[in-house]
Amino acid sequence: MQQEKVRRGRGCWAFEPSRTLPMEVETEMTEQERKALAKLVTEPPKFNEPMRHHTTLRVGGPADALVTVHTLDELQKVVQFALERGLPILVLGEGSNLIVKDGGIRGIVLRLSGELTRINFDTQEIEVGGGTYLPHLLVKAAQRGLSGLECCTGVPGTVGGALISNAGTAEEFIGGKVTRVTVLTHEGILRTVEKDELRFSYRSSNLKELGLVIVSAVFNLSRDEPKAIMERIHRRWRYRWETQPVNMPCAGCIFKNPPGDRAGRLLDAAGLKGVRIGDAQVSTVHANFIVNLGNAKAKDVLALAELMRETVKAKFGITLEYEVQIVGEDE
Ligand code: EPU
Repeated sequence: MQQEKVRRGRGCWAFEPSRTLPMEVETEMTEQERKALAKLVTEPPKFNEPMRHHTTLRVGGPADALVTVHTLDELQKVVQFALERGLPILVLGEGSNLIVKDGGIRGIVLRLSGELTRINFDTQEIEVGGGTYLPHLLVKAAQRGLSGLECCTGVPGTVGGALISNAGTAEEFIGGKVTRVTVLTHEGILRTVEKDELRFSYRSSNLKELGLVIVSAVFNLSRDEPKAIMERIHRRWRYRWETQPVNMPCAGCIFKNPPGDRAGRLLDAAGLKGVRIGDAQVSTVHANFIVNLGNAKAKDVLALAELMRETVKAKFGITLEYEVQIVGEDE
């Protein structure tokens, strides 16, 4: 029997723990909708695409549709299409800082490419597409003698994702350098938000409320010698290389640092390094990372993360808060 499908909800960014897709929403796309969606974009969408191929942790079930948009026009058309049909949208970024559950994601997963990854240099201000790969931006800015984004060294994400989660180190964040952000609102309207309306705090911002998609951002950087900037980037990169499991599939830090302490230190002191569930393991290098030893499932990762949280709570009385975004449905 053909059931009337109820479709609601808004999209979410891949770096946003609070707005996971509503579980009760049934969003399987019809053949007609797939064809209509494919007509809106130049790159053919991928349907039932396994998300483990698109996340740095290498876990995650199929997305109904993975759509790569190359222009603002394509982006607006796809968002309009989704809004009209109540299809949820999730902007993927680079798939870091993200755990996609084994049942996958209903609705449209968006990837920004082409002109949405462009960098325009203009004296000290640079305008950058929301889909720009952050390591690429860091090097390009350094080559032009523009300093200020070094705190994001080694963050394998997009500019949009990094802004949403205010990426950086424990002390310095990307949000401090931004002067304005252009978003596509939850109603699908293009809007530029000035600095005084933007709020950034540790691993958090108000951008998720302001926009569905980060289209571009303008950063105000300072001048320095390219060589000096590159040296700072290399120093930070070496530190990450020495202290984090950068050569393993992982999703970055699983938990935020609690006030006045470090999640990694607590998890380590709780004896969790090396603990395993299936192929998910607490990194032996840094205890706030879970690594995928090969064939981990999201359910292994999530069970391990909960075990980590419970152990720290039992030993130190501190409740760790998730930093990674958890999206999708159980299998
Ligand atoms: N520590 C341990 N054992 C561990 C890990 C860390 O004792 O297994 C101790 C370290 O010895 C150090 C302290 O904890 O004294 C802090 O460790 P670290 O310098 O690695 O910094 P962090 O607070 O764990 C933060 C960010 C990282 C960022 C680094 C770079 C958070 C949750 N993490 O890590 O960000 O790369 O600083 O300076 O804020 C991320 O957000 O995904 C992420 C990786």
